[in-house]
Amino acid sequence: MTINQRKTALVFGGSRGIGGAAVEQLVKDGFDTAFTYVSRPDSANALVANIGSIGGRAIAIQADSGDPEAIRAAVAKTVDLLGPIDAVVVNAGILRINTVESVSLEELDMMLNINVRGVYLSIQAAVPYLKDGGRVITIGSNVAISTGSPGASVYQLTKAAVAAMVKGLALDLAPRRITVNNIQPGPTETDMNAGAIEMLSARSPLKRVAAPEEIAGVVSYLASQASSYMTGSSLTIDGGLTL
Ligand SMILES: NC(=O)c1ccc[n+]([C@@H]2O[C@H](COP(=O)([O-])OP(=O)(O)OC[C@H]3O[C@@H](n4cnc5c(N)ncnc54)[C@H](OP(=O)(O)O)[C@@H]3O)[C@@H](O)[C@H]2O)c1
Repeated sequence: MTINQRKTALVFGGSRGIGGAAVEQLVKDGFDTAFTYVSRPDSANALVANIGSIGGRAIAIQADSGDPEAIRAAVAKTVDLLGPIDAVVVNAGILRINTVESVSLEELDMMLNINVRGVYLSIQAAVPYLKDGGRVITIGSNVAISTGSPGASVYQLTKAAVAAMVKGLALDLAPRRITVNNIQPGPTETDMNAGAIEMLSARSPLKRVAAPEEIAGVVSYLASQASSYMTGSSLTIDGGLTL
């Protein structure tokens, strides 16, 4: 592949877990990939080094998805260094478990800011720099929106918001042939589930959780030409957990 054929991707929240696997997969698919992180420069730098060692190009940008200015700056830096964007993946998200009696205003605002407002603002900031025919991919959760779980009400409402927003965004961007789709992973082996893998595996029909690379496979499909007629959809990959 010559340099002119390479594509550009931006992954919000791409230093580890599902986002890290998505960055690695996109690089393998021929994307020069920028990604953001917020708190763990060690993970971000290790991923950049790993991708460099396989001959790919990745750029780590510290940008809190709760901060609108940081989001805009991350987009600007990506375009400056890698050019117009072919695919944007909005993966950054947080999970805090507390029942309604104990959710603080601070926690509610933080989850709304990162999981909902940050997703919307990331897409809004990227849109002017997305190529016509480009891709927008979000990460939601069908488990969160289709089932109930004590202490998860705020997380659940944020993921329902993501599933809803892709529908309107898909129609807004259809005139430019930009597709907008939402991936809904089931329990996946990441830091978010540390300590709960055994319990989550036991609940799964397949008796295991997903590997981040399996979710990245869906990112790869949605970022590819093969998905060009799919837009406004939420794709569940949960090992049958919600059947
Ligand atoms: N794991 C699951 O079972 C599961 C299931 C369904 C949906 N999801 C969703 O999938 C997404 C990724 O989950 P994960 O399990 O891979 O999470 P994770 O292991 O906790 O990794 C989160 C990633 O997002 C980044 N991030 C977190 N907060 C951020 C912020 N404010 N600004 C910018 N980046 C931020 C982290 O960067 P740092 O390294 O700097 O902290 C890290 O790269 C989330 O939206 C989550 O809700 C996960």
